[in-house]
Amino acid sequence: MEVDATAETTVPRKRRIMSGMRPTGRLHIGHLVGALTQYVEFARTDETFFEVADLHALTTAYERTGEIRANVRELVLDWLAAGVDPERSTLYVQSHVPQISELHLLLSMIVPLSWLQRVPTFKDQIEQLGGEIATYGFLGYPLMQLCDIAIVRADTVPVGKDQLSHLEFGREVVRRFNHLYGSTLVEPQATLSEFPDVDGTDGRKMHKSYGNTIDLADDEETTTKKVRASVTDPLKIRRHDPGRPEICPIFKLHEIVNAPRVPAIAAECRSGALGCVDCKTECAEAVNIFLRPVRERRAAINPYTIDAILADGADRVRTTASETIADVKSAMKLV
Ligand code: TRP
Repeated sequence: MEVDATAETTVPRKRRIMSGMRPTGRLHIGHLVGALTQYVEFARTDETFFEVADLHALTTAYERTGEIRANVRELVLDWLAAGVDPERSTLYVQSHVPQISELHLLLSMIVPLSWLQRVPTFKDQIEQLGGEIATYGFLGYPLMQLCDIAIVRADTVPVGKDQLSHLEFGREVVRRFNHLYGSTLVEPQATLSEFPDVDGTDGRKMHKSYGNTIDLADDEETTTKKVRASVTDPLKIRRHDPGRPEICPIFKLHEIVNAPRVPAIAAECRSGALGCVDCKTECAEAVNIFLRPVRERRAAINPYTIDAILADGADRVRTTASETIADVKSAMKLV
């Protein structure tokens, strides 16, 4: 019987999505709305691989490796709490998949040093964190990231905009490989979250290293304290002073957790009818209500199941990863 080629196009092709996070501590509300909500959405329609990038953590924490394993567990707890379902998505730890490291070595042969030195995060991070991280491994960070993606032949990679240069680098490596050895690897496409960065309680971008985060694992009292201590519009000093919601981190939190009230809050802040103390009290309550289901799920997870989830995930990835490695070796005429 003849196969009708047009019939295939009516079945939407599933994308293969891959993303990862470094296990460097607990996740905050910015991760939830920026990344984890997307993870859950993608898992409904596409094939999804989510990796705990412990080898990437090693590039900056090689003197403090003792904390990595505990952070791996905390990270997976946060994912599960956010609703990531290990039945739908493959969850695994990078170092449990040795094929990633093997691919990294093979690809390292074809990557010009200048490509790695040119990636903007390389110089930026050394400036920020000091020369200690200027290691061979750290230079290879974006290549390792490409290997995470390429080993499962993912076509779509949800990331923040700070990662776009890594994706662009990765695409160039894939093109070079395919040009040298024949079409073997998939060129991955970045997809950005539609959610902008969340502001931290000090008005800068919410970031763990700034100590300005509202964490998924915080309790309600801690959350309330952090919200109350947050900066607001510095020109709104007294209750009835008019405020500028557009520059206020508390207002931005309202936009995430208290959407129906946002127009009224904006108007009352501008007119001076709403003072910052009341506004923060309302915000803290709304944040706690918003995070309650996540926190309840987190508290209900049996920590022992995490090992089983990660063992199962690693098994699943290794199957795919071995196929990719076999194809890569054969393309390079090693086998
Ligand atoms: N470099 C990413 C970050 O810091 C984490 C990461 C590691 C990643 N491997 C990945 C992201 C693969 C996407 C795909 O956020």
